[in-house]
Amino acid sequence: MNDRVDVLHGVNFDVLGRRDAAHYGGLTLPELEVRILGNARELGLEVSFYQSNHEGEYCEFLHRARERADGLVLNPGAWTHYSWAIRDALELSGLPAVEVHLSAVDRREEWRRLSVIRDLCVGAVQGRGVDGYRDALEMLKEAMQ
Ligand code: DQA
Repeated sequence: MNDRVDVLHGVNFDVLGRRDAAHYGGLTLPELEVRILGNARELGLEVSFYQSNHEGEYCEFLHRARERADGLVLNPGAWTHYSWAIRDALELSGLPAVEVHLSAVDRREEWRRLSVIRDLCVGAVQGRGVDGYRDALEMLKEAMQ
């Protein structure tokens, strides 16, 4: 059964609770993960979490991802907009992936409109806050079947 999902948080997500609540909702990372866990249980998915502020470590995690997971939900934070290394590592993982952003990246600064991973993903969700992770898990479940 394909039900194992790795949820990968990128740079600055360890301090999510201190980031601009107008964009990110004011939740801490553990609070966000509790919500994602609840959504995953309802959908019958098994989730594991990972966060790093180090691009190379995030890439190495992606290199090993297919040993552990059947699909990925990833929010690489600012790396989304420029990390070709993470793009290559995601492609190497060979796993279906959904890109999520808490905030509406397409309605913020110009530089946030580019995602270097979007075309590798089976779906993308933005501007839906925590609920966006539920949407992402639903899309991924569909893609993993
Ligand atoms: C983010 C959007 C990015 O532009 C930003 O750099 C983040 C968070 C989001 O979830 O809305 O760190 O990925």
